[in-house]
Amino acid sequence: MKYFDVVSIFPGMFEAITGYGISKRALERGLYDLVVWNPRDHSENSNKSVDGRPYGGGPGMVMSAEPLSRAIDAANRRQEDVGVKKKTSVYLTPQGERLDRGLIDELEELEGIVLLAGRYEGVDERLVQSKIEREVSIGDYVVSGGELAAMVLIDALVRRIPGAVNHKESLANESFETIFLDYPQYTRPEVFESHRVPPELMSGDHKLIDRWRLKESIGRTWLKRPDLIANINLDAEQFALLDEFKREKGVE
Ligand code: ADE
Repeated sequence: MKYFDVVSIFPGMFEAITGYGISKRALERGLYDLVVWNPRDHSENSNKSVDGRPYGGGPGMVMSAEPLSRAIDAANRRQEDVGVKKKTSVYLTPQGERLDRGLIDELEELEGIVLLAGRYEGVDERLVQSKIEREVSIGDYVVSGGELAAMVLIDALVRRIPGAVNHKESLANESFETIFLDYPQYTRPEVFESHRVPPELMSGDHKLIDRWRLKESIGRTWLKRPDLIANINLDAEQFALLDEFKREKGVE
């Protein structure tokens, strides 16, 4: 069981993961729990405001420390109440550590995560200093709030919970869960716009199919992600498959 507590002024956005697909099913199966805390509910002024103008001037608004702090406290309390021992607090921001498989590996060890999704020009720095342990970015670009980034992180963790993904093999086979990218997939019909399904996949010979898929995986990685291939020491068999791939495709 994993516990996610998110602080966000747009709780409804999280229905994108709780309401659809693998992450919906995993929630129904009780494999994780997700609670969204709205700082607006923790605002103590009469118009329930959660932001203010930036000191020093400049465009936009800044999320105020106080309602966020109370919402994070409530999130932390609920994690304690359900008995979470190993946890962390994450602020989603383009200034954070880049999210990749290694960081997912690390976060996977935890039982609970409190995630802060910011809006506007950001959150009051004193809140980050006092309540946040880690800052995480989903990439070197800006999206309009931390919610999408938080959902990327949660989804990547949820699908790793045993029982979340139906076919046990499909996890380990996926790009980045192995060292190579995925092999290409085909389904009916056998001919689409005069392109046939590769004959190897129609052969019924599972050894031949596995060999073809591995060759395609290695070949695609070489074609599409030369940066990844450069960091892999291909063994003799893998090297031979890559050679075969290049010859077949008439490249290099
Ligand atoms: N909020 C806005 N852009 C973001 C990004 N790239 N990563 C994480 N949080 C964000």
